[in-house]
Amino acid sequence: MDDIIVIDNLVKKFGDKLAVDHLDLTIHEGEVFGFLGPNGAGKTTTVRCIATLTDFDSGTITVGGHDLRQDPIRAKENMGVIQQQVSLDKDLTIRENMVSHAMYHMMKKREREAKISELSDFFGLEEYLDRPVESLSGGWKKRAAIVCAMLHDPRILFLDEPTSGLDINARRLLWDVVRRLNSNGTTIVLTTHYIEEAEALCDRVGIIDHGRIIALDTPENLCLSVGSVAVEYMGGERTEYRYFRSRDEANAFASSIEGDVEVTIRKTNLEDVFVELTGKSVEGHR
Ligand SMILES: Nc1ncnc2c1ncn2[C@@H]1O[C@H](COP(=O)(O)OP(=O)(O)OP(=O)(O)O)[C@@H](O)[C@H]1O
Ligand SMILES: [Mg+2]
Repeated sequence: MDDIIVIDNLVKKFGDKLAVDHLDLTIHEGEVFGFLGPNGAGKTTTVRCIATLTDFDSGTITVGGHDLRQDPIRAKENMGVIQQQVSLDKDLTIRENMVSHAMYHMMKKREREAKISELSDFFGLEEYLDRPVESLSGGWKKRAAIVCAMLHDPRILFLDEPTSGLDINARRLLWDVVRRLNSNGTTIVLTTHYIEEAEALCDRVGIIDHGRIIALDTPENLCLSVGSVAVEYMGGERTEYRYFRSRDEANAFASSIEGDVEVTIRKTNLEDVFVELTGKSVEGHR
């Protein structure tokens, strides 16, 4: 697989705060890559650096073979972005926003109209197209922003918490469209707080904390790295979690727990990995 995004030693500061801390990362063409991490970990900042929405202090980023600093316009042609904070022009209608996005990417009128109609139909937006942005609820604005970002068929699509604030139907539509675009070759980079979203969509997941990638692998391998069998039990006031490489080891531990406590033995999931790794690194920073 070719590397479509190569990040080398990326540093982004806000005053004294290191939001992205010497981060190295390679994203392969055609994969769905997910960032998971606690609030303030640096997910949005990293995505904004790659998508040329903010400048960075040092390091290099190459997108589709183009260095962001030397050739930002060529690099940007490859990308579509859905930001965490929806960025539609409030003075325009939804359709006018879509047209302006399409024109920015130099789409021809016929192609633009066909695409607006197809995607609006898919996301149930037709009846909202000629309404001003401000008259729509948050979730409908987000649907419109998603359509805008996809209009020009970007080679790489960035989705920063694409489904937060979306209802269940819209979330399912988004998952379907992500899968469809990806099966047609689009590289997808997303951030999410929904573990099931990362597990359902991502080929690889990078866990980011304090501006650094602390683990990166397929969801399955991340679970294996912690221990594929989880034992969950009430230890005094709070639930305790322990991880084991085999069910036999988990069973042996479970039977050694003293007292009348309920014990659950189950498969480890990405949420366990997240808590295990970011919990540790938070402690490490104290
Ligand atoms: N414009 C800004 N000015 C100052 N500090 C900022 C700015 N944007 C982000 N930060 C800081 O940089 C760090 C990383 O923020 P970022 O928004 O990238 O986190 P995140 O992982 O996307 O978090 P969340 O899950 O809450 O969206 C945080 O400490 C944040 O306070
Ligand atoms: Mg964010």
